[in-house]
Amino acid sequence: MKVTVVGAGAVGASCAEYIAIKNFASEVVLLDIKEGYAEGKAMDLMQTASLNGFDTTITGSTNDYSKTANSTICVITSGIPRKPGMTREELIGINAGIVKSVSASLIAHSPNAIIIVVSNPMDTMTYLVHKTTGLPKNRIIGMGGALDSARFKYRLAEALGAPISDVDGMVIGGHSDKGMVPLTRLATRNSVPVSEFISEERLDQVKEDTKVGGATLTKLLGTSAWYAPGAAVSGLVQAIACDQKKIFPCSALLDGAYGLTDLCIGVPVVLGKEGIEKIVEIDLSDAEKEHMKVSAAGVSKTNGLLEL
Ligand code: 2OP
Repeated sequence: MKVTVVGAGAVGASCAEYIAIKNFASEVVLLDIKEGYAEGKAMDLMQTASLNGFDTTITGSTNDYSKTANSTICVITSGIPRKPGMTREELIGINAGIVKSVSASLIAHSPNAIIIVVSNPMDTMTYLVHKTTGLPKNRIIGMGGALDSARFKYRLAEALGAPISDVDGMVIGGHSDKGMVPLTRLATRNSVPVSEFISEERLDQVKEDTKVGGATLTKLLGTSAWYAPGAAVSGLVQAIACDQKKIFPCSALLDGAYGLTDLCIGVPVVLGKEGIEKIVEIDLSDAEKEHMKVSAAGVSKTNGLLEL
């Protein structure tokens, strides 16, 4: 099973690394426009294979899409990342052109591939890929909620003083500081609602820290994060490649679910070999519904900036 990752920057290389370490794919192709860069990253990663115990072959290519032919899954990380103080939405001008041409090149060589979009503003880039490729909606998936949920669980574990493996929780909505909807009401510590352990004020703090999770790291690092984004992508790729039927919040094209249409936004989905096999509709509280509505309005506004 072949996976292509476009963009050999920090996020793309991290995706390739985590996919390889999990050892379920026979081949990962890393592609970048910068001469020799993907080849270098691929070689460096391959030299970790004996140390990390994986058999996945990672190869690099400078913009030669023929090397990506017949990929089962293609991940798009191309484009510029945020700088401190920037919102994800501000990247739209440059990234839209890149994502449009990358997705067309990928489909030309892998017409049956499932596409995972990571480039920001992610929900709008996912919508753009839907609009410009016309692929069936189950085959285009935006990665945001899996990452935001991982950051939510990190903050929950911190607040609870509990190991992360004891904690479960999910973030839906847009992948933006204002758009994320962390579902604190449904978060649990080993099946017990987290509200049994911490105050509403502390939970509100967890929520706020989660929503600015990416911005906090961008400020510290001077660019956007890569380890957790890469790990989150590898989780989605594995669920599809291994037909796991796992639930992840992902950006999906909605056609009535959650009362929303004609946009991509984070909702729980079942991921398996067909990509998005089902959108899971959960009963939201009135406050969560309202938050989701505001989030969707924000995503639609950014979509309005696309030249389709
Ligand atoms: C993040 O939140 C890259 O959007 C990604 O770190």
